Amino acid sequence: MQDLDPVRARVLAEVAAAGDEAAIEAVRVTALGKKGEISLMMRELGKMSPEERQQAGPQLNALKDEINAAVTARRAALADEVLAKRLETEWLDVTLAPRPRQLGTIHPVSQVTDEVTAIFADLGFSVAEGPQVETDWYNFDALNIPPEHPARQEMDTFYMVRAEGDNRPPNVLRTHTSPVQIRHMEAHGAPCRVIAPGRVYRCDYDQTHTPMFHQVEGLAIDTDISMANLKWVLEEFCRAFFEVDGVELRFRASHFPFTEPSAEVDIRCSWAGGQLKIGEGDDWMEILGSGMVHPKVLAASGVDPEIYQGFAFGLGIDRIAMLKYGIPDLRAFFDSDLRWLKHYGFAALDMPTMHGGLSA
Ligand code: PHE
Repeated sequence: MQDLDPVRARVLAEVAAAGDEAAIEAVRVTALGKKGEISLMMRELGKMSPEERQQAGPQLNALKDEINAAVTARRAALADEVLAKRLETEWLDVTLAPRPRQLGTIHPVSQVTDEVTAIFADLGFSVAEGPQVETDWYNFDALNIPPEHPARQEMDTFYMVRAEGDNRPPNVLRTHTSPVQIRHMEAHGAPCRVIAPGRVYRCDYDQTHTPMFHQVEGLAIDTDISMANLKWVLEEFCRAFFEVDGVELRFRASHFPFTEPSAEVDIRCSWAGGQLKIGEGDDWMEILGSGMVHPKVLAASGVDPEIYQGFAFGLGIDRIAMLKYGIPDLRAFFDSDLRWLKHYGFAALDMPTMHGGLSA
């Protein structure tokens, strides 16, 4: 048999020089594959005399093992190299400050709606809802506002368009949340205790008026409810909501077609230097209308006015948000100016609750 030393030296040198997985495999196949150099030599063993075979066999086997070991070692070394390269390029500095994240804020209207809901939930009121596009009946007639009533003109109502030839009265964008009173009593009857927060619409625009704004309606109906209950609930609400010592309220006799008697509530405030502050100053800001639900409204909702009576109120959410958080211009509420939202908005985790505090 030929001298194996040069073969060994050559093949091991080739293994050492192989630069990647494919090259190693090629060297291995050339030496140890079915038709590889070493394999062919092993095939010759059969033709040898027993003495020759005894000597050549172990030598070839040893060479084969040696080459296999070299191939395995080279593979491991290559894998280590690849890993080392990756580690060099893919490192991560975990001490770096994170990228700034854009965090949204909760709009003051949403925050205040949650605050109001939390306070009234504590007083045993649940939440009712109604549509923003409302029929003439629910927005006006059922609330004792017949077509010729001056209140219809005062409301600056937005009317929807009817198809040509359709002579029914047009639907309206609800001008107040009071239609939810009717819808709720119609569906659930009496007794009841609900609030109904939501959007309302009137064609009006200045520092304290926008064509879309927010109200929360309140309605409490039972067999033994009086004006005294109304006054207590509203005072209790204002004390809880404003969280300011010395909030001064003014109950002013008023008129609404759907309540009798009726009262409006103003809150003492100051506009000095363009700053809006509660609990001081010589100005009054109207925040709600209220009264004892008119018997005709109960009857229109299918509730017997001989048995039941109760109170209702409509509170301006945006108004009390302006007062509580010192926001002087209502129009900015709906401009979607990110700087304004960042300044007056609330963190998403400041969920108002009665026990945890209404606002941070
Ligand atoms: N709906 C009235 C308004 O929008 C407010 C109100 C509600 C008054 C309930 C009395 C009772 O001004």
